Amino acid sequence: MNHANFSPIPPFPVSRPRRLRANPLLRELVRETALSAQDLILPLFVRPGRGIRKEIPSMPGNCQLSCDTLVEEVGIARELGITAFILFGIPESKDATGSRALDDEGIVQQALRALRKAYPTEVLLITDECFCEYTDHGHCGILHEQRGKLDVDNDATLPILAQQCVSHAKAGADVIAPSGMMDGMVQAIRTALDAAGFSHIPILSYAAKYASGFYGPFRDAAESPPQFGDRSSYQMDPANSDEALKEVALDLAEGADIIMVKPALAYLDIIRRVKERFAVPVAAYNVSGEFAMVKAAAARGWIDERRVTLEILTSIRRAGAEMILTYHAKDVARWLR
Ligand code: PBG
Repeated sequence: MNHANFSPIPPFPVSRPRRLRANPLLRELVRETALSAQDLILPLFVRPGRGIRKEIPSMPGNCQLSCDTLVEEVGIARELGITAFILFGIPESKDATGSRALDDEGIVQQALRALRKAYPTEVLLITDECFCEYTDHGHCGILHEQRGKLDVDNDATLPILAQQCVSHAKAGADVIAPSGMMDGMVQAIRTALDAAGFSHIPILSYAAKYASGFYGPFRDAAESPPQFGDRSSYQMDPANSDEALKEVALDLAEGADIIMVKPALAYLDIIRRVKERFAVPVAAYNVSGEFAMVKAAAARGWIDERRVTLEILTSIRRAGAEMILTYHAKDVARWLR
């Protein structure tokens, strides 16, 4: 913060901050942070089949969809003013290397083609790039044994991750969003995209992604919980903050165009530090557990859902994020109409 920019503030009774709060019209004029439907990215889950709308119990209002209902859902959200979507795939089958992720006929690739056909330029399609939904062990890459323990093999995962990204770009993705927290992932993906003729496709890197308990409901939604251990050997320790700046610096050096901090609400300090240090576009992921807590408390009448949701999302914008990935997107778009 640059204190030289602050004019000296005279003491009370000359200064009366309440003067600016009395009139609602004046409150609107002095408001520093705005939230709009265009700031929001709606996550969507697609699975094989037709006519499927399978509600995710811990995420009320959010469903696993098939390609046809996905096209409908994007149309509904688009009508409400939401223009950006991030896609997650639940494949027909899983294996040790997540090979379905690389298949040009894979579920996300099919979804991209269907959406691209229905909405050639009206919507922005972002793809989550990871292997946890595709591997039978539920980890975010392929495994190897190290010091007698199974762990994700960083360098062996990079080429298949890059292949997955190129396949999604070919199928019509507008933005590529790697979420596996592999070292060197942005560089590997940038190189592969460029070589395949996709130098114009931006990378939104999940740069500062924490090993968080807030992902609980998502793992049901994406059917991707790790079958053994946890993700602490690749996702960040919630206690660390300088480490987030290092991760972001590395990803920017490797060519990331947009930086994500995830989760959002318990990491507002990280969003703010990243924004102040790097001054690049920042995305924040208001994750499944953050969403589920609001829904559960609201269902019991313990909080006012609309008020609390808008307050949370505004706080994420205020912390420094330009864009927010959130399962509240449709509700918020309705409320802001
Ligand atoms: C990994 C991925 C996860 C989320 C988004 N991408 C799960 C994880 O890291 O375990 C979580 C999102 C949420 O909780 O809403 N592909």
